[in-house]
Amino acid sequence: MTRHGFTRRNFLKAVSAGTVAATASGPLAASSRTTKKLAIHGGDPVHRSGWPGWPIWDRERDEPGVLKVLRSGVWSRRGVVAEFEKKYASLMGTKRCLATTNGTNALFTALHALDIGAGDEVLVGPYTFIATVDAILLVGALPVFVDTDRETFTVDPDAMEDRITENTRAILPVHILGLPADMDKITALAKKHELKIVEDACQAWMAEWRGKKCGAIGDLGCFSFQNSKNFTCGEGGAVIGDDEQLMDICHSFHDFGRSYGTMPRGNGCVQLGTKARMTEYQAAILLAQMERLEEQTARRVKNAAYLTSRLEPIPGIIPHKLNDGVTRAAYHMYSFRYQKEQFGGASRSKFLHALAKEGVPCSGGYSPLNKQDFLEQTFQSKNFKKMYSPKQIARAKQMSECPENDRLCSEAVWFFQSLLLGSREDMEDIANAIEKIHENRDQLT
Ligand SMILES: Cc1ncc(COP(=O)(O)O)c(C=O)c1O
Repeated sequence: MTRHGFTRRNFLKAVSAGTVAATASGPLAASSRTTKKLAIHGGDPVHRSGWPGWPIWDRERDEPGVLKVLRSGVWSRRGVVAEFEKKYASLMGTKRCLATTNGTNALFTALHALDIGAGDEVLVGPYTFIATVDAILLVGALPVFVDTDRETFTVDPDAMEDRITENTRAILPVHILGLPADMDKITALAKKHELKIVEDACQAWMAEWRGKKCGAIGDLGCFSFQNSKNFTCGEGGAVIGDDEQLMDICHSFHDFGRSYGTMPRGNGCVQLGTKARMTEYQAAILLAQMERLEEQTARRVKNAAYLTSRLEPIPGIIPHKLNDGVTRAAYHMYSFRYQKEQFGGASRSKFLHALAKEGVPCSGGYSPLNKQDFLEQTFQSKNFKKMYSPKQIARAKQMSECPENDRLCSEAVWFFQSLLLGSREDMEDIANAIEKIHENRDQLT
């Protein structure tokens, strides 16, 4: 394989299609630049053989547990959920795990348990899924956005301290795309300013920071097991933590506020609650999925490292970097930045279209969350107007400018995690397709 993406297979394909440039002296020529018709113009796509589907299950491993639940007639939370919680806590290295209906409710539960609410500000990066911010707003707190480090795609911890006010109560780092945020700096800052940390590890199952699982570093950590997620049961979530009392409060809150564990018994429910209980079906699926989680994670990590080594030399393609303390990323997405200047000025959407036509599914990822209408709509709601003065809202909004994030949102390219479950040859195809587009960039415009 050369930097220019020649495999014998591709070369023969190109020759038979009559698309090898007359000037190229051979597949190994250092300065060779191939002219091939891009698939957007009817050329042969680089990848034709499809990609691993998602989710993955097999009849033998997954179905008996689900059938057992069905036939037991106990479908609501009971022993299977408890078994899942025990095993997931052990896998994550925490004392406790609470299974929930989904990741959004896991975050909502965690913030509630830490008594974060009206009047409080929570520092959060805008490069995330909307649910992270929804959870902050749902407890009545104000999200204050901290800019993103474009190199790592994670929140920039050096931009955090400036945003701390007398109202700041917590930091909500998101290990977005499965890439761990800089937990050394975030933990130090939280300690210095006496802030709580809720980790949004909803995309970071099995990711590690200095050997410790993401989600197990802050006061509480939250996960999602929604259908697209690397560890899934369709819909599901979890809160993990080491503080027994805090976890008891979480448990109680997710079960109508009923007393649990160390909590006083009272006469009925002892705190405000919601209902966010996982079903036995969800837990049965997760127990089966857990068996393949380590192997799949290792495969994604290996393929991602290889892909990075192939993409790095391509001008205008800048693969994500991992923060220094990352000992393992989870790769919910594989991400890089696209620089159109190196592609003859072709827009990212043209590049994405061309890449998809070459047989590589891809997306541009998030748009700036801190600029979406739901925020203003929430700030103008009756509840928020009662909780916050116009001055407080204006200040939070003013602090939430994130120019680096705006730029990242316009440059990012993502590959979905299931592509990383493919073979080495599949990874070659991804890199070859990008090389082909780069070498034939004049066809993009
Ligand atoms: C970063 C992040 N946070 C929170 C959530 C919410 O999880 P769920 O969809 O399970 O409610 C998700 C999942 O979609 C997510 O990706």
